[in-house]
Amino acid sequence: CGIVGYVGAQSALDVVIGGLRRLEYRGYDSAGVAVLVDGALVSEKRAGKLANLVDALTQSPLPVGTCGIGHTRWATHGAPNDVNAHPHLDNAGRVAVVHNGIIENFAALRAELTERGHKLASETDTEVVAHLLAEEFPGAGQDLAEAMRRVCRRLEGAFTLVATHADAPDVVVGARRNSPLVVGRGVGENFLASDVAAFIEHTREAIELGQDQVVELRRDSVTVTDFHGAPAAFREYHVDWDVSAAEKDGYDYFMLKEIAEQPKAVGDTLLGRIGTDGRLVLDEVRIADEVLREIDKVVIIACGTSFHAGLIAKYAIEHWTRVPCEVELASEFRYRDPILDRQTLVVTISQSGETMDTLMAQRHAREQGAKVLVICNTNGSTMPREADAVLYTHAGPEVAVASTKAFLTQLVACYLVALYLGQVRGTKWGDEITEVIEQLAAMPEMVDKVLDTMEPVRELARSLKDAGSVLFLGRHVGYPVALEGALKLKELAYMHAEGFAAGELKHGPIALIEEGLPVVVVVPSPRGRSVLHDKIVSNIQEIRARGARTIVIAEEGDEAVVPYADHLVRIPATPVLLQPLVSTVPLQVFACELATAKGHEVDQPRNLAKSVTVE
Ligand code: G6P
Repeated sequence: CGIVGYVGAQSALDVVIGGLRRLEYRGYDSAGVAVLVDGALVSEKRAGKLANLVDALTQSPLPVGTCGIGHTRWATHGAPNDVNAHPHLDNAGRVAVVHNGIIENFAALRAELTERGHKLASETDTEVVAHLLAEEFPGAGQDLAEAMRRVCRRLEGAFTLVATHADAPDVVVGARRNSPLVVGRGVGENFLASDVAAFIEHTREAIELGQDQVVELRRDSVTVTDFHGAPAAFREYHVDWDVSAAEKDGYDYFMLKEIAEQPKAVGDTLLGRIGTDGRLVLDEVRIADEVLREIDKVVIIACGTSFHAGLIAKYAIEHWTRVPCEVELASEFRYRDPILDRQTLVVTISQSGETMDTLMAQRHAREQGAKVLVICNTNGSTMPREADAVLYTHAGPEVAVASTKAFLTQLVACYLVALYLGQVRGTKWGDEITEVIEQLAAMPEMVDKVLDTMEPVRELARSLKDAGSVLFLGRHVGYPVALEGALKLKELAYMHAEGFAAGELKHGPIALIEEGLPVVVVVPSPRGRSVLHDKIVSNIQEIRARGARTIVIAEEGDEAVVPYADHLVRIPATPVLLQPLVSTVPLQVFACELATAKGHEVDQPRNLAKSVTVE
């Protein structure tokens, strides 16, 4: 969910709606606002996208106030209807609360409140907080921050809460446990939001709130305490991108813009990290070389697209460092009692740095004594704060829910980690690695080249808009690329799509092949591991013989695939392990175009949210 709070001199409604617009990627099941006007709260909320709320507000405008809160929801408890939308108010309508996360003991609290005569209208866990706050803040002259602290001490689970009270003029309070919350510091005005994007047009000065902290915002002050009222330390930072980075910039969708930004994003991830002597300089990896030399296992943990980056990293890490590497879905990891110790390097990968599954897995790993390095795109987010080291991807803000540039830059960061481990440990360090580093530096140009040749892919995508299903096959690093291609199509086009290891096809999935079924095959380079290449050429023949319509993604100059490709998509020749940086791009373009042809809104696919801060 996305949360905004404002206190200052501007119209709070305008600021809050503007902020919610930039946070809509976090959820778009419903949206709502509450504003303090002349000692009373006025509120409006609507199911569906923010546009529904904006329409309602245009038809019946709210009076203007300068202190307010807002929310855009990704439903957890209760259907996404008007009643369950946030803000939630108490029975007297004096306090309004917005929330991100899950309050795990809400059923017990609700029962208790009902017994005391409160009437709860929604099915949400959030509403209990409004009622508890009303009890803890009985009237004017009370301290809303103190009331919030008392309430927080009773809550279990993960939550970001932001509240405002009719009897506390010009005050907004926030609380944070696990879910993200940042403060934006202005002059005579202050902001609270799930993400700096919400207030970047007003201020670039931000404060990172820590775990279990309550913040009180007034026009001229920001006060941060822990849940018991003791003053708490916080980190101030300057946001190094500006508002244009969070805008569509003439593109129809953020996703198109973000796909186009990939050459630059890949370059930015590499920036300053390759020394003049060709060796890597990763100063941010604050894990001592001796510790890295002692590592006997790498475990990579992530979700969704980031997990696919991790799958590719395994090939690179094991090949370049000879250290065993496991990759696991964050949501499965800690529940299977994994074996970790001080010699394990855990690498978590997260664009947002807030995904609850990954955060919890990271915490579990640290509790077991493992060192954690996080690959992250979001400065000031929770996972980098808690990890032993962070490697930022510097892709710039990614707004479209389906990840594109974040994925490519995660790959680059994974390669850097693998190569750096090799550099520190001295394993296999030689001509091959020096050459790979040079090749890595050339990748922005390669990605650019792919982007220049995408028109036939778009045309093909449009022609397949009525296909019932699409399969994706790959081998070696092409296998996770196939998984990613299928995920993109599911996310955006709501089509049945599956990725398989091409060699596994004959053990079952080949039964799915029927006349005309589109099958995308990611072909490894014929150079290097040529055996892989030959095997996949056989696989293409096998499916074609059974009627598949083959869409082949192959390197320039690879002539062996030509006779078996119904559609051929060329990508530049790269070293075997780096190929995903170019082979993923046509699959992103394919999914985006196919979804657009079906009339779907690609930036905000149904049921999804970009940053899922619940487990
Ligand atoms: C959500 C998004 C996915 C993303 C995943 C992991 O499910 O919809 O696109 O890959 O979270 O996100 P992270 O921020 O941890 O990389």
